[in-house]
Amino acid sequence: MSFTETPLDFRTPELEALALEVIPEQHFELRAEDARDSYFTDTSKLDAKQLAHDRFRTTPLALHDHLIRALDLRGNEELLDLGCGNGEILARIRPYLAAGHITAFDIAPAALESARQRLDGVATPCEFVEGSADDLSTFATDSFDRVMAVYMAHYVTDLNACFAEARRVLRPRGRFVLATDRTDSMVEMWDVHFAALREMNAPQRLFRATPKARISLSNGAEQLAPHFASVERVDWQDQLQFGKTEHFMAFYRSCNHCCAGSRPGEGLPPAFFTELEHRVHAHVQAAIETTGYFALTKYTGHFLCS
Ligand SMILES: C[S@@+](CC[C@H](N)C(=O)[O-])C[C@H]1O[C@@H](n2cnc3c(N)ncnc32)[C@H](O)[C@@H]1O
Repeated sequence: MSFTETPLDFRTPELEALALEVIPEQHFELRAEDARDSYFTDTSKLDAKQLAHDRFRTTPLALHDHLIRALDLRGNEELLDLGCGNGEILARIRPYLAAGHITAFDIAPAALESARQRLDGVATPCEFVEGSADDLSTFATDSFDRVMAVYMAHYVTDLNACFAEARRVLRPRGRFVLATDRTDSMVEMWDVHFAALREMNAPQRLFRATPKARISLSNGAEQLAPHFASVERVDWQDQLQFGKTEHFMAFYRSCNHCCAGSRPGEGLPPAFFTELEHRVHAHVQAAIETTGYFALTKYTGHFLCS
């Protein structure tokens, strides 16, 4: 296993100290059913989030560039994308699979439909399959050259089954690429978010941070190791720099289910979110007035398994 540093390093002692202060031990436990029945009943939040990640990044390499590098494609591979979402990543990778085959897989019908529309008419044959990533019984053993799971594994309840299944459907020389974050990624967002919650005297249960408890860059290798002969962790960083508060707020809203700690049914009234957003807006506005932009430092990466 090796650890690859990116040339750009946004870490500062101040950010490290902030992460220690702000990121709690406890995290969310998301469920696949929540993804299907609440968060991805349409892809508007995912669309907004991807747009911001791409538009406000400060490193030249985007997520899909890292994935294309990790997948190491010749052009004729059969690729399975677990939790394909709106197909945005697949559309970027598709030209590298001109003579290949794509299977887009997701638990949420709305996500699959969005992916279907995005890939409509492309020459690479594409299939769209609904299901949960911990049960790939619909696919034969040794049927893919590449399997990827991009920012989705934290929703999967039975990760052990998911990784065993990924190994089973992969051909012997195939690759599995799993992208995820460090739990302290985007610490600046959690900082303003918790500051706003403190101002509102919000209930203690809302002082939780990222939803990456089940799997993150920190604890992924040991979960993957029983299933793959080789597991390599590749870290990279980026910094989103928002010059206008409204753009950050659109991004923040797209993460609302994490930020507000409001799993479906937790019963927080709309007025709660209005006030929360108002207060977060004030913090971000103040930062932009002082420094010209509001920065979100991303600590992210992937595991390359074979
Ligand atoms: C944050 S989105 C990521 C989408 C895409 N991979 C990307 O990076 O743009 C997570 C996706 O995983 C899907 N998902 C969640 N749990 C799943 C599961 N158990 N099996 C398959 N897909 C799942 C969601 O419906 C959603 O489309």
